[in-house]
Amino acid sequence: MQYLERAEKLKEYLKKNKKKPVKAGADNSKSEDKKSDSGDSDTDSDPEKKKLQSKLEGVIINENTNVRWSDVIGLDGAIEALKEAVILPMHFPHLFTGRRIPWKGILLFGPPGTGKSYLAKAVATEANQATFFSASSSDLVSKWLGESEKLVKNLFELARQKERSIIFIDEIDSLCSSRSDNESESARRIKTEFLVQMQGVGNHNENILVLGATNIPWVLDSAIRRRFEKRIYIPLPEKQARAAMFKLHLGNTSHCLTEEDFKKLAASTSGYSGADISIIVRDALMQPIRQVQTATHFKRVTGPSPKDPSVIVDDLLTPCSPGDPAAIEMNWMEVDGDKLFEPSVTMVRFTDISSIF
Ligand SMILES: Nc1ncnc2c1ncn2[C@@H]1O[C@H](COP(=O)(O)OP(=O)(O)OP(=O)(O)O)[C@@H](O)[C@H]1O
Ligand SMILES: [Mg+2]
Repeated sequence: MQYLERAEKLKEYLKKNKKKPVKAGADNSKSEDKKSDSGDSDTDSDPEKKKLQSKLEGVIINENTNVRWSDVIGLDGAIEALKEAVILPMHFPHLFTGRRIPWKGILLFGPPGTGKSYLAKAVATEANQATFFSASSSDLVSKWLGESEKLVKNLFELARQKERSIIFIDEIDSLCSSRSDNESESARRIKTEFLVQMQGVGNHNENILVLGATNIPWVLDSAIRRRFEKRIYIPLPEKQARAAMFKLHLGNTSHCLTEEDFKKLAASTSGYSGADISIIVRDALMQPIRQVQTATHFKRVTGPSPKDPSVIVDDLLTPCSPGDPAAIEMNWMEVDGDKLFEPSVTMVRFTDISSIF
């Protein structure tokens, strides 16, 4: 009798255990049917797919990048095109029916440091209803044979599941340079997968925008280049844009530059990129700190207290020249932390621009 009871219990236990995998399998096969009818249907491909997709979850940008359209200077044409491709279709879906289809591939190209990646950050912030995927070759290239192209495929599949997605591939030339005889086979397979996923039979990419950025567009494979329907040249900034960049990068740091000074700076930096200008300004912003460090004399001034700017105090110290009538000989070690009046950034700081580069 005991044996029989035990046998019954074991039977029940086995039944219970069996049920779970059967259920999960059934669910998965259903979803698989929905997602792809051409995919491999053997059961153990599914956990693999999940594993790949969970790997790719990392490329989804969720946090706010804090860059807005207004932070990007002098690239109005590019911003308009991106709005047309991303924001308007989300806002007025009825406008983009019939033959009027939004752009599916946009390539940003131009010299280094002109704001291509920065513009993509602005897209990620502004198009907050869309899911933003930022993929680079490290996310897509795997050491396992055949996994790289599966990662590409899964990236696109993941993007198709969302309502609206933007896939941003920075430095796309590293993944999609032109096909040649002496390249490795795996590199070639990634390219082929890209070609098929971006525009192939059985792939519906209505809700996907692929955004690429490169500074060497001529090395891109011609077939990949064709899939970027809109190609936008991101040029070096114009004079006015450069002046605006100087202003923007200075921000609300105390400075005594006038409009004229900004114009002068812009005139003397022709051929400089946005990144160069941000470095010049950062260097200039450091100068007051160096001034404090090297000063041998300080004088007392009145100004807002560093602790609470709404309170005006009159015992602040600021660096001055030894010839100043109110100069007190001391160094920065003797100044209290909350008694220092920050010297403002002056035009002199920018005069040796050429020495930076
Ligand atoms: N048009 C611009 N407006 C505001 N800031 C800019 C602009 N262009 C460049 N910058 C500044 O320069 C920095 C570098 O720009 P970014 O990384 O976008 O260059 P890039 O074009 O992607 O260069 P690369 O081709 O080398 O990747 C930005 O973080 C930003 O501070
Ligand atoms: Mg970049």
